[in-house]
Amino acid sequence: MSNYVCSSKAQIKPEAFHWTIDGSQVDLYTLKNSNGLEATITNYGGIVVSLKVPDKNGKLGDVVLGYDTLNDYIGNTPYFGALIGRYGNRIAKGRFTVDGVEYQLAQNNDSNALHGGRKGFDKVVWQAEKLDTPDGPALKLTYTSKDGEENYPGTLRCTVTYTLTNKNCLKIEYAAETDKPTFVNLTHHSYFNLKDGGASDILGHELMIKSSKFTPVDKGLIPTGELRAVAGTPFDFNKPTAIGARVENDDEQLKFGKGYDHNWVLDRQGKDLELVASLYEPTSGRFMEVLTTEPGMQFYCGNFLDGTNKGKGGTVYQHRTGLCLETQHFPDSPNHPDFPTTELKPGEKYTQTTVYCFSTK
Ligand code: GLA
Repeated sequence: MSNYVCSSKAQIKPEAFHWTIDGSQVDLYTLKNSNGLEATITNYGGIVVSLKVPDKNGKLGDVVLGYDTLNDYIGNTPYFGALIGRYGNRIAKGRFTVDGVEYQLAQNNDSNALHGGRKGFDKVVWQAEKLDTPDGPALKLTYTSKDGEENYPGTLRCTVTYTLTNKNCLKIEYAAETDKPTFVNLTHHSYFNLKDGGASDILGHELMIKSSKFTPVDKGLIPTGELRAVAGTPFDFNKPTAIGARVENDDEQLKFGKGYDHNWVLDRQGKDLELVASLYEPTSGRFMEVLTTEPGMQFYCGNFLDGTNKGKGGTVYQHRTGLCLETQHFPDSPNHPDFPTTELKPGEKYTQTTVYCFSTK
């Protein structure tokens, strides 16, 4: 049973997520593991609404940004906690070619396509099934995206399973199949703040990324195609470094991103689940490790948060009060044949697994 004390005053009410949308039932599901850690997840957008993990004194606290009600998520969210698809990150001019046919997606981020379009996987209702697995409680989400949805080719049948393991990890397993050649790049968009869930900035969080290269971008945050060495730049996180230490450096890439908003090429041994990053917050002692099967990770440090999102318990999310570690394939891969491919063909199975593990130091 739980050895931890809950420190947060705010209690998210499941009733605030009990809605019918497009004829489908939306709810808030609670996963509690054998150590008392707790995640609440809604099947609207597969959003992780809260994630309570202990600090070094054994006090549970929520470490992700978000809202108290579904209504707020529907109203306006910078993808807080959401599942992202079909294509996480940007596609230049929203255009790609599959099997000789050119497709035009919605240009919802200046001239580019971002995070699956106007109504991406973060805004659809997933079918939900709660499971008890040997690893811990789980929520299996299923969604079939119709051929032509958001102008992507192929019917894409997707499942995403969140498991809050008894080893104190949030495991996310994705799978997808298509009936026509298409592109897929699924990811998860939690904004973490291990200190206080977003009441203060994340600049003191110490980040480590096992990566010797990143994909530099143009002004629109589209990769130029170059894989650039991080050595000697503010993008070298091989040694744990405070995010705030170099984020304001005079660096063209940081200017383009208004801070960190880039894809790191992960240094991997193979294709299995591997530790690729870690995040440590010294005052709370919370430590998070990131394991993934993916070749890349977008590290975004909440540069667009500006105090206009009033979140859980009335917390106003100011500049850089949350950070995302979006494990994925590289942005705009459909237009960069030399990047690891994101094409999925009929008969193939897309899978990706990412695990966020929590402990203290
Ligand atoms: C991703 C992008 C960012 C931004 C956020 C949402 O992380 O890379 O540029 O769009 O999503 O605000």
